[in-house]
Amino acid sequence: MYQSYFTTIVTQVSALIMLLPTIARGMESISSIGEVLNEYDVEDNDGKIVIEDIEGCFDFDNVSFRYEGSDKHVLSYFDLKVEAGGETVAFVGGESGAGKSTAMNLLIGFHLPTNGRLKVDGHDIAAINRRTYRKHIAVVPQNTILFSGSIRENISYGLKDVSEVDVEAAVKAANLTDLIKDLPEGLDTKIGERGGNKLSGGQRQRIAIARAIIREPKVIFFDEATSALDSVSENLILEAMDNLSKGRTTFIVAHRLSTIRKADKICVMEGGGNVLNMVPMKS
Ligand SMILES: Nc1ncnc2c1ncn2[C@@H]1O[C@H](COP(=O)(O)OP(=O)(O)OP(=O)(O)O)[C@@H](O)[C@H]1O
Ligand SMILES: [Mg+2]
Repeated sequence: MYQSYFTTIVTQVSALIMLLPTIARGMESISSIGEVLNEYDVEDNDGKIVIEDIEGCFDFDNVSFRYEGSDKHVLSYFDLKVEAGGETVAFVGGESGAGKSTAMNLLIGFHLPTNGRLKVDGHDIAAINRRTYRKHIAVVPQNTILFSGSIRENISYGLKDVSEVDVEAAVKAANLTDLIKDLPEGLDTKIGERGGNKLSGGQRQRIAIARAIIREPKVIFFDEATSALDSVSENLILEAMDNLSKGRTTFIVAHRLSTIRKADKICVMEGGGNVLNMVPMKS
C-alpha cells in the first residue's frame, strides 16, 4: 500500500520536473510581455502554414489593434517594413501605455491585428502556425527569470547535445566570461530564485542573452530593463546585444539613449493609437 503511494508520488514529481523547462519558458514570456500564457491555449494552429525557417522580414500593413473588450485602439493604421539581414528596430515612447509592448506582442504572434495585416516573410501571421514560427525567435525579457540550477543549465535548458564549445562561445559573446571566472564552481555554480548565488539584474539579462545566442535564432526581441544600471553593466549588455543581434532582425523596446543610437529605425510611439514618428537612423 505505502509502496504504491510512494511510486505514484515519485511518478508525479518526476512528471513535474520534466515540465520545468516548459514552465520556465512560459514565465520568461510572461515577464517580458504581459500576461500571455493563456494565449497558448486558445491559439488555433491546426492546419496552418508550418514555418521551417525564416528570413526575418516583417511588414505591418495598415495594422490597427485593440484589446478584446476595449474600444480604444492601441495601434491605428500602423505601417512598418523591416528587411531581412540584420535591421534593428527600436520602439520608444516616454509615455507608459503607448503601445510598445503591444507592438512586440503582435510580432511574436501573441495577438493578431484587429484590422490590416502583419506579414512575416510575406505570410500573413494569422495564416501561419505560430508555434513553429516561435522556434526561430528568441525573447530577452525585461526581468529574466532564472530557475534553480547551474548557470550552464540555465543557458542550455531544453536543448539536446549542447557542446562545451557552444556554451563557451555563448558565454563569451554574452560578456559573462569574467563573472563566471570569479564564481566558485564556474559554469556549474548554482543560481536561481531560491538559494544559490544571487545575480544582479544586469547579470541575469546577460544570461538571457547567452540563452538566446546559443539557440541561434533568426529574430530577437529585447525588452530593455528600465531599472538603472551602472555604466559598466550598461556597456557589457550593449556589447552582448551587439553580438546577439549581428546579422539578425532585432526588435528592442528601448529606454536608453545608448541603445537607441544603435537602431536602424526608431518608432516613436504615442498613446491613443498613434505612431508619432518613424525615424530612419543609419539607413
Ligand atoms: N492585455 C491587455 N488587455 C487590455 N488592455 C491592455 C492589455 N495590455 C495592455 N493594454 C493596454 O494597451 C495600451 C498599451 O499598452 P502597452 O503595454 O503596449 O504599452 P507600453 O508602451 O509597453 O507601456 P510601458 O512603457 O508602460 O511598458 C495601454 O493602454 C494598456 O493599458
Ligand atoms: Mg511595455
